Amino acid sequence: MQTRIDEIAAGIYRLSVYVPDIAPPAGFTFNHFLVRADEPMLFHCGLRAMFPVLSEAVGRLIPIEDLRWIGFGHVEADECGAMNEWLGVAPRAQVVHGATACMVSLNDLADRAPRTLSDGEVLDLGGKRVRYIDTPHIPHGWDAGVLYEETSRTLLCGDLFTQLGDGPALTESDVVGPAIAAEDIFQYSSLNPGMGTTIRRLAEFSPRTLALMHGPSFSGDGASTLRALANDYDQRILRSRP
Ligand SMILES: [Fe+2]
Ligand SMILES: [Fe+2]
Repeated sequence: MQTRIDEIAAGIYRLSVYVPDIAPPAGFTFNHFLVRADEPMLFHCGLRAMFPVLSEAVGRLIPIEDLRWIGFGHVEADECGAMNEWLGVAPRAQVVHGATACMVSLNDLADRAPRTLSDGEVLDLGGKRVRYIDTPHIPHGWDAGVLYEETSRTLLCGDLFTQLGDGPALTESDVVGPAIAAEDIFQYSSLNPGMGTTIRRLAEFSPRTLALMHGPSFSGDGASTLRALANDYDQRILRSRP
């Protein structure tokens, strides 16, 4: 396992680990994002098995003990498996998440108490500002949420737009078609009536960069791209009705 590091927006670093054995022959990427700031934040902790390679990679960008905040989309092994390993090596680090994740899981799972962010609350990292947005059950997990980094207009969108393969770190090409294809294969989303509305709410931020957990980061018209994804889910939900 190797970690590829790319700066996908000003001060936002994508640390990508490619696993060829998942969904071969295309394979699958796991992407973690370091937000470089006075109080650095890591979005996605990675699997516990990835901690050695990921911590080495983060250490190339900042002294690892300076890591201050740890965020992720929802409680699953690829998003937060190594959470306590990070808390162990960074003494000032704290997990941040929404009220549901903290109440249901993180108050118990995290070795240090997490900081709860309310829906829409901004966390000032010093030079970077992340806004937390609740996205319950979207694409999956009651506790799901995303972060929007306001200074670079980057949406750290977690599992939204998941796609197969090991593409470029940053693309201006379509990411909706590959996401629809991956949804057809994995059926990873919890189809629910609020999906289109919630994803369109993210479009209102007009992000310039979409930072995908599984796939390339997208540079371009984030609002139109999010609305196209919302429309596909609306259609999918209509088709799923008896
Ligand atoms: Fe997930
Ligand atoms: Fe994921």
